[in-house]
Amino acid sequence: MRVLVVGGGGREHALCWKLRQSPRLEELYCAPGNPGIGEIADLVPRSVDEIHELADFAASIRVDLTVVGPELPLSLGLVDEFEKRGLAVFGPRRAAAEIEGSKVFAKEFMARHGIPTAAFEIAHDEASARAAARRFGLPVVLKADGLAAGKGVVLPADEAELEAALALFFGERRFGNAADRLVVEERLVGEEVSFIALADGENVLPLAAAKDYKRLGDGDSGPNTGGMGAHSPAGVLGAEAANWVLEHVMRPTLAGLAQENRPFRGFLYAGLMLTPEGPRVLEFNARLGDPEGQVLLLRLEDDLVELLAAGATDRFPAGRLRFRKEAAACVVLASPGYPDQPLCGEPLGGLDAARAEEGVEVFHAGTARDAEGRLVSAGGRVLNVCATGAGLAEALRRAYGAAQRVEWPGKVLRRDIGRRVLGAHAGQEES
Ligand code: AMP
Ligand code: GLY
Repeated sequence: MRVLVVGGGGREHALCWKLRQSPRLEELYCAPGNPGIGEIADLVPRSVDEIHELADFAASIRVDLTVVGPELPLSLGLVDEFEKRGLAVFGPRRAAAEIEGSKVFAKEFMARHGIPTAAFEIAHDEASARAAARRFGLPVVLKADGLAAGKGVVLPADEAELEAALALFFGERRFGNAADRLVVEERLVGEEVSFIALADGENVLPLAAAKDYKRLGDGDSGPNTGGMGAHSPAGVLGAEAANWVLEHVMRPTLAGLAQENRPFRGFLYAGLMLTPEGPRVLEFNARLGDPEGQVLLLRLEDDLVELLAAGATDRFPAGRLRFRKEAAACVVLASPGYPDQPLCGEPLGGLDAARAEEGVEVFHAGTARDAEGRLVSAGGRVLNVCATGAGLAEALRRAYGAAQRVEWPGKVLRRDIGRRVLGAHAGQEES
């Protein structure tokens, strides 16, 4: 099969790495990809929002399957465009991707279908947002309706922070139209976990649970980021709870979307808070998580080409996905200044030494070649140093050991990925 992957980050590098292992794969393309992906796939110089040009390219090479990584092309209707031209693609159409693209839609959808989530109100202006926040009481959570690159969620703890947040959304209009409507919701407390499943419109095949670390600094301090590390197993979701999530979140979500004429094919991602009252959905994403995808693909045993081709055009074969018993961990190396103003163009070395360590894979996220052909940093999140190991402790030890091998004096990384989970759950393993 000829396969095209759309995207150019660590998640897409991991997707390409996994697709490459399939005996069904003949040719692999990635648009736009990155230098790491370029070692295992043919790069297509198209950005992810050029959906018509991407469809032209896919048609010209008669691609058998396209896999979409990031959210933007999904909400621009890439899948709708490809399907119109008879091109098989694994990803949700624009209408189904709204589960991520509009937080107001997602919350009202969950309310309609009885999917457990934080209590909420929708606010259309500053006064109604303030009134709703006071009804819930502080601390509260404010979320811009539209896509805001992970920065549209604010958790004001007191009146001053609430006023500053309202000024950001309505005065400064930092998020533009994305904040024309706000979700105001109850603040939940608990452990977060990412639950991702493959969906074919009717059936879900759950991946193993994963945990990501969204805050920049150790001990969950500092600003929210796209994710500074991940591991699977998550260490916080037992088999029984995972089954509960499957029955009370994933299946009803898929059924509800189908019923509302928005059948969902693709990676369906529920970000959950494990509260004392049970799991609650914080958000849905219409894609594989990044960096959760990296650790999940390291553990997945099944043939990804076969699975995604079935999911794109038909139904999944019956059965469950198989995962290696080993754990997998990922440590993100980010640029100084990330997430606000990442400093780019710094030379990167030592990748071969890092990759040579046992169980280690290094995925490129934001890298480029400079005029002399040297590998340099070219984004906020730059490298994903990943490792498998007999258990979480070994996977993390290997990933951190390999991260030390990367020669990049400016690299920013969290030192505590997995630490709290290991401390609390020493010796316990889950699938
Ligand atoms: P979201 O993009 O909706 O997942 O929100 C980003 C982050 O904000 C989440 O990963 C949580 O850490 C936090 N968050 C969102 N909603 C809530 C909530 N209702 N209670 C507590 N924390 C939340
Ligand atoms: N790691 C969080 C996300 O992919 O949205």
